[in-house]
Amino acid sequence: MSFTIVEQCTARLNRSELAVPGSNPTFLEKAASSPADVIFLDLEDAVAPDDKVPARKNIIEALNDLDWGGRTMSIRINGLDTHYMYRDVVDIIEQAGQHLDLIMIPKAGTAADIYALDMLVTQIEDNMKLEKRIGFEMIIETALGMANVDEIAGASKRNESLHFGVADYAASTKARTTVIGGPNKDYHVLTDPDENGNRDVHWGDMWHYPVSKMVIAARKYGLRPIDGPFGDFSDTDGYAAQANRSATLGCEGKWAIHPSQVELANDLFSPSEEDVTKAQRIIEAMEQAQKEGKGAVALDGRLIDIASIKQAEVMVQKAEQIKAAG
Ligand code: GLV
Ligand code: MG
Repeated sequence: MSFTIVEQCTARLNRSELAVPGSNPTFLEKAASSPADVIFLDLEDAVAPDDKVPARKNIIEALNDLDWGGRTMSIRINGLDTHYMYRDVVDIIEQAGQHLDLIMIPKAGTAADIYALDMLVTQIEDNMKLEKRIGFEMIIETALGMANVDEIAGASKRNESLHFGVADYAASTKARTTVIGGPNKDYHVLTDPDENGNRDVHWGDMWHYPVSKMVIAARKYGLRPIDGPFGDFSDTDGYAAQANRSATLGCEGKWAIHPSQVELANDLFSPSEEDVTKAQRIIEAMEQAQKEGKGAVALDGRLIDIASIKQAEVMVQKAEQIKAAG
């Protein structure tokens, strides 16, 4: 183990993160009974310029007046390059800060972006004598942000999670796709021809590299990596396939841009009972091995060692967190 200890951010369930446009009071009301782990009330791209100011007011009212049932509440503020942002932060923290857990920072580009916001939020919290510190979630969705993802992840003690914003990322990198998330048939390899000259087409995952890069930066600083939107909400299989790929790489959850995606995400990012039972057996077998002075033992015909305990503990802790959340 390195002498450098990675401190873990505030532990929260983040299997599903529901996006709700602040401009629509009916959607805000409906969202209050959603089973989403985290809900972000949006002021940015789902809100048209003329609706920005009323959306801010709706969000303040929704945070204060609706019963969110202990869910983790976030707001997605407007970009740091807009004149809306400072009032998003000032007005919402001053008027509803005690109901807010997180601020989502879109198009985070440099560590200085996070630093600037940290300063602003700290001043407002201190002035309001708010005891709870609001955390930050950063969307990595530009070439600038992805190139600087490491310094962004380490830029503030408030940082809790990094999110892959596939739509803006595709636009920023000029990637060839017009859908939000999911694969592109042009990103494929061809097998060598068989004896009849036939070749198979294997679709690849064009998002593998940026998601992996973001996961590494997030984990380096003890943050949660979260996969972003999947636009085609009628394609549940496509959503599940994308979620499973990002979960395999280490992501803890995925956005739901439609309420129907929430249960899917909760399910896909929860360990199965079978996995939890196996993890408990690994922990028990290793405890026994350590009593006997052994560093590694065989379980079900496979080698397990100290690293296996850590993986198993992560799984069991997640299962306990889910149980505690009800
Ligand atoms: C999310 O904000 C995205 O751009 O995908
Ligand atoms: Mg975006």
